[in-house]
Amino acid sequence: MKRFLKVGIAAGALSASVAMLMPLNAAATEITVYKSPYCGCCTQWIEHMEEHGFEVTAKNVEDTGAIKQQHGVTRELASCHTAVVDGYVIEGHVPAADVKRLLEERPDVEGLAVPGMPMGSPGMEGPRSEPYNVVSFDADGNIEVVNSYQ
Ligand code: CU
Ligand code: CU
Repeated sequence: MKRFLKVGIAAGALSASVAMLMPLNAAATEITVYKSPYCGCCTQWIEHMEEHGFEVTAKNVEDTGAIKQQHGVTRELASCHTAVVDGYVIEGHVPAADVKRLLEERPDVEGLAVPGMPMGSPGMEGPRSEPYNVVSFDADGNIEVVNSYQ
């Protein structure tokens, strides 16, 4: 079982090998975002992802709960929008850097989540911020913190 590397471990070695495999003008990574039409922060997060080189397809859905259920996102993990990128599920306001690391390291997880809607996370910027964690989750219900922001 391949685990997500902790931040800082072998990051240099990893990015070097990835750089060799990917041409500099590699096509933007496509990501599909399922969002409520009534929620503005999802759009802010989409802009954050686009600023970091992702090509976003946004789909408005009335029943975001059904999308979450379909993608193994439990209540405990849930946020507003649910995205799918290269076979992984991204729930909520996950920073683009963590999504890129996921796609480079390709651990055996379903995806990443930032549960809830923490102030200060990408798309949730404002006058105040709070600390939050990025977690990975797998199909067996295992949840692991893979990054923390203050
Ligand atoms: Cu949100
Ligand atoms: Cu939102």
